[in-house]
Amino acid sequence: MNEKPVVLVTRKLPIAVEKKLAEHFETILNPDDRLYSTDEILQMAENADAILPCHTEKFSAQTIALLPSRIKAIANFSVGVDHVDLEAAKLRQIIVTNTPDVLSDATAEIAMLLILGAARRASEGDRLVRSQQWKDWSPAFMVGKQITGKRLGILGMGRVGQVVARRARGFDMTIHYHNRKPLDSMRIKDAEYHATVDELLSNIDVLSIHCPASDETRGLLSSDRIALLHSNAIVVNTSRGGVIDDDALIDALKSGGIAAAGLDVYNGEPDAIHPGYRQLENVFLLPHIGSATEETRDAMGFRAIDNLTAIFNGDEPGDRVA
Ligand code: DGY
Repeated sequence: MNEKPVVLVTRKLPIAVEKKLAEHFETILNPDDRLYSTDEILQMAENADAILPCHTEKFSAQTIALLPSRIKAIANFSVGVDHVDLEAAKLRQIIVTNTPDVLSDATAEIAMLLILGAARRASEGDRLVRSQQWKDWSPAFMVGKQITGKRLGILGMGRVGQVVARRARGFDMTIHYHNRKPLDSMRIKDAEYHATVDELLSNIDVLSIHCPASDETRGLLSSDRIALLHSNAIVVNTSRGGVIDDDALIDALKSGGIAAAGLDVYNGEPDAIHPGYRQLENVFLLPHIGSATEETRDAMGFRAIDNLTAIFNGDEPGDRVA
């Protein structure tokens, strides 16, 4: 690299990441971490050679068409890339990368937290203690579902799903999964493959969703599919809200169709999530914090920098998705 390329960073990144980025690139930073509008991004992009965004910035086909011709790359600080129209980027020959692997452990931790929180009624218990409504103990008080030894169904046995499977084995859970293709047994040990989503749902106690959001997976967990789960089942989602039909899930949670849910991601997040979730006791809700650990956020940033460095050195970036 001769002159340093300019990178527009749309959100405030960890200090170590911004420092390392500045060693290799000119940077346009967002020290106040304000959520920029698309128009602002397009305007700032006039002075940049690449953009380093998060999933909070949307790059629709229309936005990508309006990006200045000097933009060579969108190097995401995220593993999910549903916020970027990849076909539109390909048409403009804009390279798109993501940050896989480095957030699998952190996200798997949140999946386990959701499973436990939903099964053992963590939000309800927390609310009781905080509101001084906790008055008694009895054998029937706050009885939840035990997950030890239960059947965990993993929808999407990618990197995160595989870590969740390993962690869940620590709770003696048996692992079932659905994926486009079965994985080799070295990677998934004795996990049982189900060729269809419906077959998976019919054979599990806990569902953990790990498939990416796409046209194929939108609304995948529909009312017909939820009906295949038994009434003690638990659903958790650390992937993207779009995979779930919210009305269907809320109906099942209200009617006793399933026992509980744990959610970290939502349709319409953050401020337009389905209001029905807020009314329910049997949901454990977190605000999209799957990757929110110091170690992981640093690693995501370094991975995005590696991708940008490769691109501007004329090499193939490790994590190219378009
Ligand atoms: C991801 O990396 O996709 C996380 O959801 C944060 O954006």
